[in-house]
Amino acid sequence: MSNQAGAPSPRPEPGPTWAGCLGKNERREDRAHWTGYVGLVTGTCFAEVGHEVICVDCDADKVKLLQQGGIPIYEPGLEELVRKNVAASRLRFTTSTREGVDHSQVVFIAVPTPPLPDGSVDLSFIEGVARDIARAMTTYRIVVDKSTVPVRTGEKVAETIKRYCKAKVDFDIVSNPEFLREGFAVEDFMKPDRVVIGVQSERPVAAMKELYAPYRAPIVVTDINSAELIKHAANSFLALKISYINAVSVICEASGANIQEVANALAWTNGSAGSSSTRRSASAAVAFRRTSVPSSELPRSWAATSLCSKKSSGSTPGRWTAS
Ligand SMILES: NC(=O)c1ccc[n+]([C@@H]2O[C@H](COP(=O)([O-])OP(=O)(O)OC[C@H]3O[C@@H](n4cnc5c(N)ncnc54)[C@H](O)[C@@H]3O)[C@@H](O)[C@H]2O)c1
Repeated sequence: MSNQAGAPSPRPEPGPTWAGCLGKNERREDRAHWTGYVGLVTGTCFAEVGHEVICVDCDADKVKLLQQGGIPIYEPGLEELVRKNVAASRLRFTTSTREGVDHSQVVFIAVPTPPLPDGSVDLSFIEGVARDIARAMTTYRIVVDKSTVPVRTGEKVAETIKRYCKAKVDFDIVSNPEFLREGFAVEDFMKPDRVVIGVQSERPVAAMKELYAPYRAPIVVTDINSAELIKHAANSFLALKISYINAVSVICEASGANIQEVANALAWTNGSAGSSSTRRSASAAVAFRRTSVPSSELPRSWAATSLCSKKSSGSTPGRWTAS
């Protein structure tokens, strides 16, 4: 979203690593992230491929912990990557949004978007952080939304930045939804099936492609509203697949078929079972994982699946859940 009509349109000049082409007389980082779950994983994985990253969080305790070498969440492989990239001076942490925005060409938003009691989404964190970024902006920035938001939130973020940016500088808004799974976050980020980039103009596209180039994943460039919708469509498609495989498991149970075999065969319909892309592709079964749950805790509708899983695999009763 190019927002200051007639203003010059400087684009960050990508280099071998972004930091390399940013530094003039001062050291400047590539990008700022918020250091919650998604922000920390994203920032760390960008640092791991050579970008320079500042992670910003208003939670001073969290930032202090990270600055002291601790880590606020457990995610396989993350702690090692944080340590490695902090030691390599590619990753650091601050509570100052101004510092993050001032030293970054690309600013990622990864703040919470919790549901409200009426079912709508609480966008107050997004609104708040958009104001903070706007107040800190003194030159062109790409502002990327990684939070999961309702369609057309990008437009609201752009309006907010325009309203609160006293310097009246140019900027672009990008929607870049995140598909990582908790428990597999580093792996998913480092080997994405695809990267979705929603833009209003061509201007930030080269910079975003440069940023994600090291991951060698297909990049889908679309408009902002479509990118925002893709995240929700992907979530509901996953729910659909879960319902489907559970329905199939009931038939397996009734007919003596083996749900594990059926699910595995469905995974082969894309021709590359076991790969990261197949795991989350449109073919059904690999997008599910079994978790062990005592059958007494399962809703009645899950019981057949549970029994079937036990029969076919000989393991603890389980159910299929979204991965
Ligand atoms: N957790 C997941 O697996 C996952 C996966 C995909 C997408 N998402 C989406 O990503 C977004 C972030 O989720 P999360 O799980 O990382 O949330 P989180 O609560 O773990 O982290 C958000 C962080 O933002 C900080 N914050 C809030 N407002 C701030 C401000 N104005 N300035 C500085 N810091 C601020 C908070 O202190 C917190 O540490 C949500 O929209 C979520 O739906 C999450």
